[in-house]
Amino acid sequence: MSELNQSGPFPTVSWIGDASSGFLRMIDQTRLPGECVEIDCLDTAAVWGAIKRLSVRGAPAIGVAAAYGAVVGARGRGTDDPATVRTSLKETSAYLQTSRPTAVNLFWALGRMEEAADAAGDVSGPELVDRLLAEAHAIAEEDRAMCRAIGRHGADLLATGDGVLTHCNAGGLATADYGTALAVIFTAHEQGKGVHVFADETRPLLQGARLTAWELQNRGVPVTLICDNMAAQVMKEGKIQKVVVGADRIAANGDAANKIGTYGVALLARAHGVPFYVAAPSSTFDLSLADGSGIPIEERDPLEITEGFGRRTAPEGVAVYNPAFDVTPAELITGIITERGVVQPVDAETVRALLGDSRATR
Ligand code: MRU
Repeated sequence: MSELNQSGPFPTVSWIGDASSGFLRMIDQTRLPGECVEIDCLDTAAVWGAIKRLSVRGAPAIGVAAAYGAVVGARGRGTDDPATVRTSLKETSAYLQTSRPTAVNLFWALGRMEEAADAAGDVSGPELVDRLLAEAHAIAEEDRAMCRAIGRHGADLLATGDGVLTHCNAGGLATADYGTALAVIFTAHEQGKGVHVFADETRPLLQGARLTAWELQNRGVPVTLICDNMAAQVMKEGKIQKVVVGADRIAANGDAANKIGTYGVALLARAHGVPFYVAAPSSTFDLSLADGSGIPIEERDPLEITEGFGRRTAPEGVAVYNPAFDVTPAELITGIITERGVVQPVDAETVRALLGDSRATR
């Protein structure tokens, strides 16, 4: 574990060393903002645990971490025999897919790793592992490029002086770098648009307070933290001109799963006439699902609600329901900002027109 310089930019997920003996290094996001430390994952159990407990979180970052985790797993039983590497990769992929169910980027990235192994053909075991690491690097690099493009497309939608509400964390910590929803805000800020962000705290795990406020402060973007239940009042006071959030999985008709509470924010935005945008790369679309009803919603430990951050705040024995995500219906979404442009209005036809069949979904 190592301490990082807090002024960033910071590598959310990185690979240290070569394919045969290297390992995955990540910021432990559970420790932010108090401590900025990195953890090293030397085996697949460590990668699985880091995803499960949200040391690495945010849909694209989970995908990148899983891709590097696949490299670690593929060489787990040695690299002398390429058939053994392929079997280990398949087992690793199946195992990592059980870590979290909602963000489709996890399944997409692991699918790409398996396809890369298939495409490698008749190569030696060490060469196969080299190819897998190259594919993981490509996934990370593409994510960085997609985030920058999302930032460019989305910044055009923000006007000078806008108050922008965001929910959860869709920043550099949630991606390989720069973010999706926060990329839009960072880019607008860099263009001198003078935007002001209202960050929802995001109960129960406080990604908005701990991570979004921290990232925005680090980049010098004006930010005001509010509790989730204050958004209606802040909108009514006229302080919010746009909402921009990320997504974990977007169905073919544009229904978008994101952190629990997003759907409520979308309803509030509609009630107050505030445009509501979702920012996400094409790797977050799941075109195999006609609508959002088929998106699996992760349920998490009740202790996150009753004993968040170590202090009991509810009576022993109380029943708790803790869904980690909700689905915002397409009709509440003004536009989906992708690396290829903005889907607007949002429906099956416009999603298909922008994304076509150009990416496999699983
Ligand atoms: O449970 P988390 O922290 O992984 O949830 C993250 C979100 O809901 C993000 O908004 C989403 O993954 C988009 S990240 C670019």
